Amino acid sequence: MNLIDYPRWPSLARESILNVPMDLRSIRLSIDGKVIDYSGDIDSVIITGMGGSGVVGDIINDLCLFWDCRVPIIVSKNMRLPRRLSRPLVIAISYSGNTAETIMSANEALARGYPVIGITTGGRLSTALSAKGVPVILTPKASAPRYGLPALLYPALIILERFSVVSVTNELESGISGIENALKHVDDAVNLARQLVNSVPVVWVTESRRGVGIRFKNDLNENAKYYSVVSVVPEGAHNDIAAVITKQNGLKHVAIMGPNDYEGRYEEVLIDVISSFGAKPIIVKLEGKMPLELEMYGATYLGITTLALAELLGVEPVSTEPIDRLKNLLNERKVFQV
Ligand code: F6R
Repeated sequence: MNLIDYPRWPSLARESILNVPMDLRSIRLSIDGKVIDYSGDIDSVIITGMGGSGVVGDIINDLCLFWDCRVPIIVSKNMRLPRRLSRPLVIAISYSGNTAETIMSANEALARGYPVIGITTGGRLSTALSAKGVPVILTPKASAPRYGLPALLYPALIILERFSVVSVTNELESGISGIENALKHVDDAVNLARQLVNSVPVVWVTESRRGVGIRFKNDLNENAKYYSVVSVVPEGAHNDIAAVITKQNGLKHVAIMGPNDYEGRYEEVLIDVISSFGAKPIIVKLEGKMPLELEMYGATYLGITTLALAELLGVEPVSTEPIDRLKNLLNERKVFQV
């Protein structure tokens, strides 16, 4: 099976953090009469980005539930930033650097006087931020944004460390072990993919695995060109679960669980209820001990599952033509002024 960039993930993670500048905290900019001081205290981190770049925010949000991060993480997948922020740090992530929503958000953050750091392989985000002296971390390339996940995630983790949000140094290598472990489970991933053929996967996760669930859904969409839904527990147990009573053709319940999940026992009860209505949920157990290790295991293992599904379906995994067409048309119709 062609694993595309997955075998390179350990080296993508390691290479990407070499480009994070040491002096991030000593930056002081003056943009349109506003002084932006990167040494000041922050009271939140906004992670803005779309799709394969935006999922970095979801994963960091999961991690912070285990790590007890010093400030809240706000995940923004929009062209505007949330209102009424006080002293946020904004991390703008766009693999290509050409995603208009992310460029707009970064511009808005600077206009509001917030410190911004870009993570990208180049593109317009890099040009626009660099021209203003805003730090940009240039990250190594992959075959498509989603295959560059570690190269987007790892620099963001180092930024959190530099801003004293959380200490990550003891975790970085464990994340790489999680990737390497998942790469040893390709046969299991192929088996899981076989069970998903002719189905609409319903992916059940707890709040603390939201990032893994969203990433799996996105990879099903983009690699296997497959519809799927994510239900996040406990909220999903108050609505999505009600539909289990209807034997809709082709739904396949997949419950993803880590060993120490926040609300993990809740998910066990949920699985029993789903089963009691005759459904046979597939349970995917994340392997590892450390929080980053578990998330990276999940993202890698489930990503490979979607490549296996693409192969079983005879689908070309890399290209995502509808997304490209949307971006082109948004540009052509000048929906965004960037
Ligand atoms: C394609 C993919 C998409 C992109 C999204 C945003 O591989 O993963 O979800 O990530 O369209 O584009 P970027 O990441 O370039 O900002």
